[in-house]
Amino acid sequence: MFKQLNDATAKPVVWSTYTAEILWADPHIARQMLAYHLNPDINAASRSFDFIDDSVSWLISSLDLNQSSAAIDFGCGPGLYTQRLKKRGIGTVVGLDFSQNSLGYASEQAEQSDLKIEYHLGNYLDYHDSRQFDLITLVMCDLCALNPSQRARLLNKFKSLMKPNGVIALDVYTSARFEKQSEDVTLARNAMNGFWSAQDYWCIQSSFLYRPELVTLDQYVICEEEREWTVYNWLQHFTIDMLRSELEQHDLKVQATYSDLRGRPRVDGDEMAVVIGHK
Ligand SMILES: C[S@@+](CC[C@H](N)C(=O)[O-])C[C@H]1O[C@@H](n2cnc3c(N)ncnc32)[C@H](O)[C@@H]1O
Repeated sequence: MFKQLNDATAKPVVWSTYTAEILWADPHIARQMLAYHLNPDINAASRSFDFIDDSVSWLISSLDLNQSSAAIDFGCGPGLYTQRLKKRGIGTVVGLDFSQNSLGYASEQAEQSDLKIEYHLGNYLDYHDSRQFDLITLVMCDLCALNPSQRARLLNKFKSLMKPNGVIALDVYTSARFEKQSEDVTLARNAMNGFWSAQDYWCIQSSFLYRPELVTLDQYVICEEEREWTVYNWLQHFTIDMLRSELEQHDLKVQATYSDLRGRPRVDGDEMAVVIGHK
């Protein structure tokens, strides 16, 4: 037991494993996630519907988008942004996600509302498209879940997908948020109200800080009667200078910074939003 607990709570090397697909594609977890997305009172997977309405309105008006514009949403989930963009008359709207469950919901909603939105199922790190877009979105701080080489790959892709005046709108966690995090270990039966499995389980959750890198990890070891598995939830936190220098490597630059993707003026907080253009 001593050795098992030691192993289950050992601190991994930073960014050593990527398990996002389990988190978003496991059928049981995917159902829980979709319920979170669609619950306007829970901010865990998507923001509130009021926030998303404001965000889409702000993006359309500040970027002057219209029926000849093209927008692509990386990690679109159940299509909360794509649906609104298309309803507001944006010409081409594309959504990418590797959660079959969320994308199935998004496609059904589009069909029911007779909205022509293109959805593609798959890992967005592997997505190819010869078209170029006015707006690329990556919202809910999803850039933060990627390791440095995945971020480089994605930013490279963004660069090639942007029209000459096209922009990327994304949000990230800040160093101020990092400073509020702490290391901890908890053990709970059927933790998070059965979120991880339909079977009975124990969850050993360890939270780790990687200070020089400004990375946090929530590691969940799930022990069921028949199987044991681990989910790693890494989060990169950024200062504006870190973000700027990462973008510079791809010939991209921050055009403007905000508190969030509703265009609120920037104040020191747990998150910041940026609009990024070609350098
Ligand atoms: C936090 S949710 C945000 C969903 C949506 N952007 C919103 O705000 O409502 C992250 C979404 O990104 C998707 N996702 C994460 N990593 C992905 C990847 N590598 N390829 C495709 N989809 C990914 C997940 O399936 C999930 O739907």
